[in-house]
Amino acid sequence: MGDKKIVIGFVSILVLACGLLPFSGLFASEHGSGETEEMCIPMGTFYIEPPESIEASRSKVSFPHSLHFSYNCNVCHHTWTGEGQIKNCMTSGCHDQTQSPKKAVREGSFSAEAIQYFKYAYHNQCIGCHREIRQANAKAEKRRRLGSVTIRKTGPTGCVQCHPREE
Ligand code: HEC
Ligand code: HEC
Ligand code: HEC
Repeated sequence: MGDKKIVIGFVSILVLACGLLPFSGLFASEHGSGETEEMCIPMGTFYIEPPESIEASRSKVSFPHSLHFSYNCNVCHHTWTGEGQIKNCMTSGCHDQTQSPKKAVREGSFSAEAIQYFKYAYHNQCIGCHREIRQANAKAEKRRRLGSVTIRKTGPTGCVQCHPREE
């Protein structure tokens, strides 16, 4: 009985801490050692904003996180191995550069240096995936006369769909 109360108290404190983010959820993983670790997952839709030090030229981007949960988490959180906390994309040394590097594109894709620029990192991942699905859909459409085809839902690829305004 006493033990149960302690557990309930513990969980409610964690939910409170998660509550700092709108629509957040709780995720617990068990390590080999039997210890569990909790992580707050932002649920629903939230905004992605540029680093504070830059003067934004476009409005912040609305991101329906949960609408993407049919993918593996590490499709986007690509350094996460399933253990420990997920890092923010703009963690120092990741995609925290605030200026475009001189040599941005090499053989059609961003150079290792360029992808550290936050804008290229987001555009590469967000637009890249939406565009890939769109292109696959366009190909599928061409085969439609040959029989039924699968058209997949995708996300926006145009500037104002993601950034409704200029700032
Ligand atoms: C389509 C890409 C995508 C997928 C798939 C995805 N996320 Fe995210 N997630 C993001 C982005 C973008 C952010 C915002 C990160 C930032 O602000 O730098 C984020 C934020 C988070 C954060 C907060 C990190 C922080 O800034 O402290 C957590 C935790 C998280 N996601 C967990 C998950 C989990 C768990 C899954 C799998 C069920 C998942 N995500 C799937 C893109 C994705
Ligand atoms: C790995 C592929 C993938 C990545 C990466 C990805 N998306 Fe998506 N996105 C999708 C798919 C698939 C859908 C359609 C989901 C649905 O409607 O069920 C979608 C839908 C959306 C929508 C909703 C459009 C609508 O009709 O409501 C928005 C907005 C969006 N994505 C923004 C983003 C942003 C911003 C990022 C980068 C942080 C991102 N996406 C990264 C695959 C991706
Ligand atoms: C799928 C969504 C998506 C699309 C489409 C998109 N962007 Fe972005 N963009 C983002 C995200 C996410 C960021 C990082 C968060 C932020 O800075 O608002 C960003 C950042 C930026 C930034 C740097 C921050 C700023 O406001 O100065 C600029 C400039 C920008 N985008 C311009 C564009 C232009 C121009 C287009 C069309 C060619 C475009 N974006 C298309 C999602 C998108």
